[in-house]
Amino acid sequence: MPASWSLTLRRAKGCRAEREPCSRVRLCYDPRPFSRPEPRSSRFLVDQIVEFVLKANNAERRILSGMRPTGRLHLGHYHGVLRNWVKLQHEFECFFFVADWHALTTDYAESLDIEQSVWDMVIDWLAAGLNPGSATLFIQSRVPEHAELHLLLSMITPLGWLERVPSYKDQQAKLKEKDLTTYGFLGYPLLQSADILVYRAGKVPVGADQVAHVELTREVARRFNFLYGREPGFEDAAELAIGRMGKKSQRLYRDLRKRYLEQGDGEALERARALLDEQQNLSLADRERLTGYLEGGGRLLLPEPDALLTESAKVPGLDGEKMSKSYGNTISLREVPEEVDRKVRTMKTDPARARRTDPGDPEQCPVWSLHKLYSDADTRDWVVEGCTTAGIGCIDCKRPLIESIQQDLAAMRQRARQYEEQPELVKAIIAEGSEHARDQAKETLEVVRSAMGLGYR
Ligand code: TRP
Ligand code: SF4
Repeated sequence: MPASWSLTLRRAKGCRAEREPCSRVRLCYDPRPFSRPEPRSSRFLVDQIVEFVLKANNAERRILSGMRPTGRLHLGHYHGVLRNWVKLQHEFECFFFVADWHALTTDYAESLDIEQSVWDMVIDWLAAGLNPGSATLFIQSRVPEHAELHLLLSMITPLGWLERVPSYKDQQAKLKEKDLTTYGFLGYPLLQSADILVYRAGKVPVGADQVAHVELTREVARRFNFLYGREPGFEDAAELAIGRMGKKSQRLYRDLRKRYLEQGDGEALERARALLDEQQNLSLADRERLTGYLEGGGRLLLPEPDALLTESAKVPGLDGEKMSKSYGNTISLREVPEEVDRKVRTMKTDPARARRTDPGDPEQCPVWSLHKLYSDADTRDWVVEGCTTAGIGCIDCKRPLIESIQQDLAAMRQRARQYEEQPELVKAIIAEGSEHARDQAKETLEVVRSAMGLGYR
């Protein structure tokens, strides 16, 4: 390593932890040495960088997810996505972003509307309980590295992979009124891959409709690692690394690798990975090398993420259909109390209960779906009993529900108010989040460029 190169572990400039106690174990990295304009051998450096990045970031603990800026959010977004994010922010290192470029892939003609939607959505995130002290909140377009990685990955992504993503044909069929024959629309799942890989996130909370995109991300990462994760003499280096393990482990490793490579035995792969984890005397670079060697390819530069499938609570709208802005059947997170009251009171119920004396079946009633989200066990028992025996009327049934929703939303409205009154506060949160996100993304691009042989300056 050239003497002038130092990979320092110190808190990055502007790190929040300087001002607040940091609840997460966070290694902050000062990116300055990387921008030194010095000739250097990119191949030579990549080892150092990889080792460093792997040390500083534990992919398994890092979560990334994004949402298109759709403007004000409603209960469907809350129970389907946000509530889960709020929970995750305390358990993982979370990056949540506004996918504003993604909005352009379908709504390029209405791009002027994006801005208002962005800020409305961020305020709702904060209102719902996302905490900028726990999660990094940012806007995609403020981190241009997403675009650079997207471009570089586009070079290695076969056209067929994108054409086969189910949402490509589905959306074109569904959104007939929109022109979706663009290059950007075809590439949007790859942009999503770049969103994920640029943070080396290990887990991606998504709904079922997005799992195919995470799958594509894994394939792209694998291809990238295969193409660029090789170093000259990789096999020799891997063999040397094997020799650094104990005799028993060496034999086991070879055996498991063979079973995986020859028979595709996934369990053998898992066991071999576990074996590597247990090795005390392997350097991180060797460990990565041997992980890559297991799968026949090079080292793991971009980790393959897993989808974290959100068991999405289906939230019915006022008419019993799925709650959605396009159906006009929503209760928004900042709905005023009178409207919440009115909307739930006029909400559809089981059609069998045409008269007060007709018994009903909660399973046929959208109000019941909301009770499942908002009411305790006693109230729910009371609903089932009262509904099926006509012991209570629908208005009675809705009363405790309205109260719980009001309670929840009152807290959100209150949190939202301070941000509505001080938009500069929202902008500051996003500026800080975007800066932190960008620092992370820059590190990845250093590695990616170097690995591809583009590290020259
Ligand atoms: N495509 C996602 C959606 O439409 C949003 C998104 C963009 C996303 N990039 C992402 C989600 C990365 C998870 C990870 O809902
Ligand atoms: Fe629905 Fe409640 Fe009326 Fe039964 S009593 S139909 S669950 S609103």
